[in-house]
Amino acid sequence: MGRNFVSLLALGAVVNATISSSGQTFVVNGISYYAAPEAVTTISATADMLISASKGTDIDLIPLTVMVDSSGQFTTDVFRSLVSNYTASDDVFNAGFLQSIYLTHTGSASATVKYPLGAALTEYGTQLFIPSRAYTSSVQSQGYNITGWRTAIPAGPYFVSAITGEVFRAYRLYSDVQGAFTEGLKPNSDGSYSILSAAIPGAQSLTIGVPSKLYYTKTAEKPLAGVRLGVKDIYDIAGIKTSCGNRAYYDLYPPRNVTAVAVQRLIDAGAVIIGKMKTSQFANGETATADWVDYHSPFNIRGDGYQDPSSSSSGPGAGIGAYDWLDIGLGSDTGGSIRGPSEVNGCFGNRPSHGLVPLDGVMPLSPNLDTAGFLTRDPYLWHEAAKALYLTNITSNFTSFPKKILTSGFPTTGDSEADAILVDFLSKLQSFLGAPTPTPISLDTLWSSSAPAAAGGASLSSYLGIVYPVLIAQQQYTLFTLPFYADYATAHDGRRPFIDPVPLIRWAFGQNNVSADASVQALQNKTVFMDWFSSQVVLPSEETCSDSVLLYVGSDASPNYRNQYFSVPSPPTGFGLSRVSPLSEVPDFVFPNIIAAKGCDGMIFALAEALTTAGILKVPKTGSLMY
Ligand SMILES: *[C@@H]1O[C@H](CO)[C@@H](O)[C@H](O)[C@H]1NC(C)=O
Ligand SMILES: *[C@@H]1O[C@H](CO)[C@@H](O)[C@H](O)[C@H]1NC(C)=O
Ligand SMILES: *[C@@H]1O[C@H](CO)[C@@H](O)[C@H](O)[C@H]1NC(C)=O
Ligand SMILES: *[C@@H]1O[C@H](CO)[C@@H](O)[C@H](O)[C@H]1NC(C)=O
Ligand SMILES: *[C@@H]1O[C@H](CO)[C@@H](O)[C@H](O)[C@H]1NC(C)=O
Ligand SMILES: *[C@@H]1O[C@H](CO)[C@@H](O)[C@H](O)[C@H]1NC(C)=O
Ligand SMILES: *[C@@H]1O[C@H](CO)[C@@H](O)[C@H](O)[C@H]1NC(C)=O
Repeated sequence: MGRNFVSLLALGAVVNATISSSGQTFVVNGISYYAAPEAVTTISATADMLISASKGTDIDLIPLTVMVDSSGQFTTDVFRSLVSNYTASDDVFNAGFLQSIYLTHTGSASATVKYPLGAALTEYGTQLFIPSRAYTSSVQSQGYNITGWRTAIPAGPYFVSAITGEVFRAYRLYSDVQGAFTEGLKPNSDGSYSILSAAIPGAQSLTIGVPSKLYYTKTAEKPLAGVRLGVKDIYDIAGIKTSCGNRAYYDLYPPRNVTAVAVQRLIDAGAVIIGKMKTSQFANGETATADWVDYHSPFNIRGDGYQDPSSSSSGPGAGIGAYDWLDIGLGSDTGGSIRGPSEVNGCFGNRPSHGLVPLDGVMPLSPNLDTAGFLTRDPYLWHEAAKALYLTNITSNFTSFPKKILTSGFPTTGDSEADAILVDFLSKLQSFLGAPTPTPISLDTLWSSSAPAAAGGASLSSYLGIVYPVLIAQQQYTLFTLPFYADYATAHDGRRPFIDPVPLIRWAFGQNNVSADASVQALQNKTVFMDWFSSQVVLPSEETCSDSVLLYVGSDASPNYRNQYFSVPSPPTGFGLSRVSPLSEVPDFVFPNIIAAKGCDGMIFALAEALTTAGILKVPKTGSLMY
C-alpha cells in the first residue's frame, strides 16, 4: 500500500492533467437530469440563501426554479398559476425544482415587489425552499419587499451551485429506446456542440437530453426558439464527427469545425439540436435488418413495432413517430429518403423543390437530386421551419389554392382501411379546394401521346429507368467515395474501409455496368423529362403557383417486417411515381403524397396548414397508433 501511494504521488508530480467538467447528472423526484457544465449566470444576491439551503446535503448543485413575475404582487395565486403553467407547458420542469426559487420580475430593475407568499407554499412540503431565508431582513408580517434583484435569466428549472451561485441549465434525460439517434448532443456557449455525457437505463440505448422549453421565447428573429431538432448524420455540426452511417468514416475524420449551412440556419432561427440521427449507409436505400451491417436500423414504433422504418432518413422518421420530446427532424431526400420514412413512420415529410438551400457541409449522393427537408408531426412548425431553412427561396406569391386535382394510382373505393382513409381525404380535399372531380392520369399514357422528339420514342421506363442509379452511383463515387478511399488508404497502409453491401453494389453498377460518362446522358434524359412534366402534366400558374396538385400513394401501409430475409440487393433501376419529383425537381410532400409545380413549396405548406385548421388533416400522435 505504502509503495503504491508513494509512486502515485511521484506520478502526480510529472503529469500535467487537464481537467474539465462535462456536466453532472441528478435524479429529481425520480426523473433523471443533466446539468450542463457552462454556467448561464451567477446569482450572487442569493449566495447566503443557497449556502443555507444546501446544509445537510452532500451535493453542491441544488435544483432551482427561476420564476418570472410580471404582476409586481407575487401572491400565492400567482405562484400556483406559474407552477401549473410550467408543469403544463414543459416536460423538463417538475415540482422538485421548487426546492429553491429565484424570483425575477419584468418591471424596472429597481422596482419593489411585494412578496406576500406566507406559509401557503408548504404544500410542496420539505422539497420547497422559498427565498424567504435569503431576505430574512426584509420580512414583513404580510410578506417581503424585494428590490434590485433582477437578473436577465429566463424562467425554468436549473441547477445552482450552493458554493459559487453559478446557475446551470437543466436537461431532462430520455432513453432513445427506438435506436433512432447516433449521438445525443448539447450546445456549447461558442456555437459548437458536444456529445451529451449522460446515460440512463432504458432498452440499452443512447441517452438524449432536452433543455427546458421555458428557457425560450419565440420572436420574429427566433421563430424556432427552443424547437428540439434531430439532424440526420450526413450533415456536419461543428464539434461533432459525422458518420454518414459508416463506422470507418466516423473513425477516420476529426470532429467538424463548421456547421452545415442548412443546420446553421435552423440554429440561427432558435432551434436546439438534441442529437444526430441514424441514416442508412451514405444515404443509400437499405432494408432492415440485413442491409444494415455497420449500424442497426432504428425501430419503427407504428403497429407492432417490427416494421421496417424505411431509409435513408430512418432515424428522423423513427424518432418523430415515437418521441413526444422530439419536435422535428432534418432529413435529406435524393430518391425518397424523406418520403419513405415519413410514409411508414406516420408523419409529415417534404421533399422540397430542388435547389432551395445550399448543401455545403452535407454528404453528397447526387448533387442534381439531393434535397434537404423535414419530418415532423406538426404542420404549423413544418412551415415555420421551412421558412427558416429555405429563406427567400420559399415563395408564397399565389393568390389562391389550385382548383384542379390529378391522381395517379389513387384508390377510388375504400376496400381496405387504408384505402378508405385515402378516399375520404381526397373527397374532403376536393370540396375544400372547390375542385371538380379529380382526374386520374397515367404518366405512361400521357408520355406516349406527347413525349418530346428528343426521347426518340422510348417508353418512360426505358428513357428514365437508369437515370437515378447512374447519377447517384457515379456522382457519389467521384465526389465522395474516391476521396474517402484515398484518405483511408493513407491512414491504414493502403487498405480499403468496410462498406455495407448496398452502397458497394450501387457504386459497382456505376463503374462496371454503364459507360463512364453515363451521367451526362442521364442528365440530358432528366432535363427532357423535367421540361415535359412542367409543360404537359403539372404546370406553373400565376394565380395558384401550380395549375394542379398531383396525388399519389407512396406507401400502401402493407406490412414490411424487419425480420424478413431478402435477396441480394440490386441497383435501384426502374421508373415509378416516386421518381417523378427527383427527376423533375418538383416538390413532393407526404400527407399523402402531393406534387405541385417547381417552386410551389410555400403553397403546399400553406395548404397543409389550412387543411389541418379545417380538421381535414390530423396531427398524428406518437406511438403504436397515429390517431
Ligand atoms: C398561466 O397561463 C395562463 C394561460 O396562458 C395565463 O393566462 C396566466 O397569466 C399564466 N399565469 C401567470 C402567473 O403568468
Ligand atoms: C415594504 O414596502 C412598503 C410599501 O410598499 C413599506 O410601507 C414598507 O416599509 C416596506 N418594508 C421594508 C422592510 O422595506
Ligand atoms: C476546418 O477543418 C479543415 C479540415 O480539417 C481545415 O482545413 C480548416 O483549416 C479548419 N478551419 C478552421 C477554421 O479551423
Ligand atoms: C436559392 O436557390 C438558389 C438556386 O438553387 C441558390 O443558389 C441560392 O443560394 C438559394 N438562396 C438561399 C437564400 O438559400
Ligand atoms: C452488372 O454487370 C455484371 C457483370 O457483367 C453483371 O453480373 C450484373 O448482373 C450487372 N448488374 C446489373 C444491375 O446490370
Ligand atoms: C437515356 O435515354 C436513352 C434513349 O432512350 C436511353 O437509351 C439511355 O439508356 C438513357 N440513358 C440514361 C443514362 O439514362
Ligand atoms: C413567385 O415569386 C418568385 C420570386 O419573387 C418568382 O420567381 C416566381 O416566378 C413567382 N411565381 C409565380 C407563380 O408568380
